[in-house]
Amino acid sequence: MLNDIQEILYSEETIAAMVKRVGREISRDYADKNLLLVSVLKGSVAFMADLMRAIDIPARIDFMSVSSYGSGTKTSGVVKIIKDLDINLKGYDIVIVEDILDSGKTLHYLVDLLKGREPNSVEICTLFDKPERREVDVHAKYIGCAIPDAFIVGYGLDYDEKYRNLPFVGVLKPEIYGA
Ligand code: PRP
Ligand code: MN
Ligand code: MG
Repeated sequence: MLNDIQEILYSEETIAAMVKRVGREISRDYADKNLLLVSVLKGSVAFMADLMRAIDIPARIDFMSVSSYGSGTKTSGVVKIIKDLDINLKGYDIVIVEDILDSGKTLHYLVDLLKGREPNSVEICTLFDKPERREVDVHAKYIGCAIPDAFIVGYGLDYDEKYRNLPFVGVLKPEIYGA
């Protein structure tokens, strides 16, 4: 698995520092609110697990599983809901937790869907943001960091369902995805 990685972009330590900072920001902004963290599986699994423990105010959690990339490196644009939330959103201040904001299609779809369920508020928290790739208008209130346009894997991010369990984030060797 390590052999497939061309370069490590974000080490475990770098990611941990970004997660702590974002956790502090959310803790500060939601102290007087009714925070519900909504993790978008599968990519956000590692970020969610670490972020919720970097938040020191009361928070509830729920999970939703969606997919739009399938096994390719480009979004299909069709967001498929594999598992929906359990919690009724009325009265909650939602923070959607994502690993990466790329074309924006996934989050654009999700924000609309969740707003339709009449929560108090909906914001986005993403570990990585690729603003140059945006195809629809979506903005995250909380961002770990902005990144250049390279196909990255690790810390939840996959290529064809692989590499999610890497503790760091790196760039795949182009020959792996046939470039
Ligand atoms: C990836 C990623 C985001 C989304 C971002 O999920 O985890 O959810 O794509 O891309 P977008 O901004 O272009 O919509 P994917 O569909 O690969 O499912 P996964 O989280 O299970 O890997
Ligand atoms: Mn995802
Ligand atoms: Mg994926």
